[in-house]
Amino acid sequence: MKNLKFFALCTAFLSLITLGACSGEKGEIELGAEQEKAMSERLAPAGEVSLVGEVSSAPAATSSDSSSRSGDDVYNKSCKTCHGAGMAGAPKFGAPDQWTARIDKGMDILYVSAISGFQGMPPKGLCMDCSDDELKAAVDYMVDGSK
Ligand code: HEC
Repeated sequence: MKNLKFFALCTAFLSLITLGACSGEKGEIELGAEQEKAMSERLAPAGEVSLVGEVSSAPAATSSDSSSRSGDDVYNKSCKTCHGAGMAGAPKFGAPDQWTARIDKGMDILYVSAISGFQGMPPKGLCMDCSDDELKAAVDYMVDGSK
């Protein structure tokens, strides 16, 4: 009987020690490589994580959006309103007689007119989000189609 009591005491004592040891370890749980990777992904700043997804989509968005609109596109979207019908004195697309005198001024002058405006011709032909290169492409397109 005495032995049993001692044994019980011992077990209680031992479990106290193990418990203590366990709670002491709580702060430093060891993670497997997989868990560590998963956790660092979850802890990564939101911006960085979404950036990975954006990398593949961003260039496509910009190229279809602004940098690669063709002269044809820009003309049809922004210039045709006036130049298609020759409205308000605008030289008409496909009418060489209305363009030769302008073409003689030199393409650089025509680019400047398209970008900065020229009398009845509004700056950028009202395509406010057009880049200079897109406007030049639109001028090229109009001039090529009006020679
Ligand atoms: C609101 C009407 C309007 C729109 C839109 C417009 N134009 Fe014009 N554009 C004119 C008029 C009017 C003239 C003639 C100006 C003059 O000679 O007095 C003109 C002239 C021009 C000329 C000849 C300039 C010169 O120096 O002789 C070019 C080049 C030109 N436009 C390019 C464009 C391009 C490119 C676009 C589209 C991005 C565009 N225009 C959109 C009205 C417009």
